[in-house]
Amino acid sequence: MTKNELKELLNSLTLEEKIGQMFQALPHIFGEQGAITGIFDEKIEVDDLISVVGSILNMYDTERMKNLQKQHLEKSKIPLIFMNDIIHGFNTIFPISPALASTFDAELIKETARITAKEVAPFGVNATYSPMVDISRDARWGRVCEGYGEDTYLSSVCAKAMVEGYQGDDLSADDTIAACVKHFALYGAPYDGRDYNNVDMSERMMRNDYLPPYKAAVDAKVAMIMTSFNTINGVPATINKHTNIDILRNEWGFDGVSITDYGSGKACYSAGVTESHAETAALLIENKVDIDMMSGVYGMKHLGKAIKNGDVSVEQIDDCVMRILDLKNKLGLFEDPYRYFKGSAVIPEAERAKHRAVARKTVSEGSTLLKNDDKLLPIKKDAKVAFIGPFVYENDLTTHWSQIHGEREIGLNVKEAVETFGELTGEYSYSVGCPYINMNEAYEDKPNDPCNGEYEKYEAEAIKNAENADVVVMLMGEPSVFFGESRSRTDITIPQVQMELLKKIHAVNKNIAVILFNGRPLVLTELSEMAKSIIDVWYPGSQGYLGICDMLFGYTSPSGRLPFCFPRKSGQVPLYYSNILTGHDNYEGQFSKYTLRYIDTLNTPLYPFGFGLSYTDFEYSNLRISSDKLTKDGTITVSVDIENKGERSESETVQLYIKDERAKLVSRPTKELKGFKRVFIKAGEKKTVSFEINEPMLRFYDKDCNFVSEKGKFHAFVAPHSYYEKSVEFELI
Ligand code: BGC
Repeated sequence: MTKNELKELLNSLTLEEKIGQMFQALPHIFGEQGAITGIFDEKIEVDDLISVVGSILNMYDTERMKNLQKQHLEKSKIPLIFMNDIIHGFNTIFPISPALASTFDAELIKETARITAKEVAPFGVNATYSPMVDISRDARWGRVCEGYGEDTYLSSVCAKAMVEGYQGDDLSADDTIAACVKHFALYGAPYDGRDYNNVDMSERMMRNDYLPPYKAAVDAKVAMIMTSFNTINGVPATINKHTNIDILRNEWGFDGVSITDYGSGKACYSAGVTESHAETAALLIENKVDIDMMSGVYGMKHLGKAIKNGDVSVEQIDDCVMRILDLKNKLGLFEDPYRYFKGSAVIPEAERAKHRAVARKTVSEGSTLLKNDDKLLPIKKDAKVAFIGPFVYENDLTTHWSQIHGEREIGLNVKEAVETFGELTGEYSYSVGCPYINMNEAYEDKPNDPCNGEYEKYEAEAIKNAENADVVVMLMGEPSVFFGESRSRTDITIPQVQMELLKKIHAVNKNIAVILFNGRPLVLTELSEMAKSIIDVWYPGSQGYLGICDMLFGYTSPSGRLPFCFPRKSGQVPLYYSNILTGHDNYEGQFSKYTLRYIDTLNTPLYPFGFGLSYTDFEYSNLRISSDKLTKDGTITVSVDIENKGERSESETVQLYIKDERAKLVSRPTKELKGFKRVFIKAGEKKTVSFEINEPMLRFYDKDCNFVSEKGKFHAFVAPHSYYEKSVEFELI
């Protein structure tokens, strides 16, 4: 439709029809199945929903979706739009977001989103509530598992890659979907790590560290944005005019659709901020929030009242509805409202196999080798291996956001995966050894008990298998019920029962390699003392165990780099590498006790952001810079030589960090990531890796929140991780 035709359509709508477009409902309202991700309030007050409602969330049955569209179009001129949470894959489930970030590979991340769109679009889903780009530096927060880590630059790269992958070049294409960046804003920074809690943050920190990933999505032309549950400096994000209007709409020029999070409209009243839902409705409109997800605030009762009271004008409503119609138009729904309901069968099996191959490759690229003493890994193909731990017979490494259509049926457990490798000729034993958690502990959601209550039997079997093995592979970590929405923890450790088993295994065999499953950075201090090797695989998705075996037996190398700092103790969080300088960072000698520190642990993380080993050894040398002076419109190049000293050809992730030594009246971070490259270096080969530095890369929000660069001294680090110390100096003149 042309803009004029859309306008005509808008003008032909009744007020009820317009308001209906702005309301998003669960299919339950129509007696249909869907996934509930929040409070389900039966009393939502919108008359004759089937004809007026504009969009549906989280419906997973193509035939029923098609039917609903049909029923709807019998009464309405405007097709429904279907939006779902498709977070890290639809049929092919990719590793969770921190693992995707660990790849430091924008092209691969984009490809995962591209594949997801190809799989979900023919299912009838038009938009996904992804990517979630909330910077998270406090690993207690349960939704750390959904974002891309602690770092602004890396998360911004991921945001762009995901949006481009989902949306392609043309939203109306059969295999693209609209992306919805979330949760705007600052949802990842609740002050005590508890999900939904308030965020109090300076304007400067917000702009320097937390907002850029959302902005990167907007710059990549993301179609939608979702507001967040939290308050920002006291004001709910959903009605925070500063973020929603001043920044998002006016500064960044976002003209796409804004949607509330699940019920976050109604929550403004519960937060004691508004006097009535009608007032909330008026505020939402003022904030140019176009769709209200599942709270009914945009029903006739409340929004209608606000209009009647003169608090909302019809022009304001038209403005919101136009953006929604525009999105439907871009998706091509007016031409053919049924065009997307083709069913997954349209994707040939050969294509699906390619998708799985990408997911399998992503497991190696997104897994991080934290330790590898005595080069225990990779395991020889004829070695005797004992696989031990509660994850041994687990064949679902996909997590809760991969509900319903994730390829669980082809998910293998480790035994089945090993058996697919014809070349493995060793002896392999498998024992669960212990449950995921102490089953007597009172948890709201408990994982299943792989020992069926027979703990002594399984423990004895595991110890015996360990005694007889050359290498023990421990499959352990956080059960998936420990992370996700509303699942914050105070103690970010591996459950005690698994650590106890590890100690007993360690007593009989020191050749331990741990495959670590986790949804957040964990405290690995004790584990690191016992394990010779650790590979952090996060939750690696539907190709998880095949990918794990690829790495264990050396078919591939784990080549991920951590997107978070991993603390030594829980009490260290929030912990991140780019803390701003305090003036007390480095007192030595007799005054050292006045240094910024804890008295019971070090300042440094156990494993820093950007860290990761590989099966070969890379040596950095000859760091140099093309000039020690940088002019405002010039460029200088910083380079390093990297030699692959080992016997395997592998890729290294080279990172550029910059430290701004001094700024006018505000402290700057100890350093900041400004670039990275994944380079493949053959065994014995030496390569030069270079990064260009220019003035825009040095800009930041200063004391008065102006985006500027300041003349003076900087340090450039070309480094394997964020705590690497070697740098070269240059001056911005
Ligand atoms: C979550 C969102 C999600 C929405 C819809 C909410 O509870 O915070 O991330 O997209 O539900 O399922």
